[in-house]
Amino acid sequence: MRIRLALAALLTVPFAAAAQGADPNLGRNLAATCAGCHNITGKSLTGVPGIAGRSKESLASTLKEFKGGQRSATVMHQLAKGYTDQQLELIAAYFAAQK
Ligand code: HEC
Repeated sequence: MRIRLALAALLTVPFAAAAQGADPNLGRNLAATCAGCHNITGKSLTGVPGIAGRSKESLASTLKEFKGGQRSATVMHQLAKGYTDQQLELIAAYFAAQK
């Protein structure tokens, strides 16, 4: 029983921290899911558009347009639906900070 309690405490702490937005690396970690196509620097190495260094506002609104279906796409409309608006803001801030 004591072991189970200790385990529960260990598992709860990291999730509680993330829920409060206390993780300073959350934006970068979320942006890592984009890296396969856009590179973690946002300077794409393939034919995919580069996204580094644009304003946070422009990136966030583009992502929300993909999510809402106002902007047509081959893959981005599907991907954007997997994130909350708050997560899209964090990701936009991360790529806006890449020069
Ligand atoms: C499977 C590859 C793939 C992944 C993963 C991916 N993208 Fe994209 N992205 C694309 C492609 C391809 C386009 C061009 C639009 C389209 O056809 O979907 C694009 C377009 C964009 C654009 C618009 C660029 C422009 O100039 O119009 C932004 C912004 C963007 N992606 C951000 C992201 C972010 C942020 C993530 C992570 C949440 C992400 N992408 C994940 C492939 C990808």
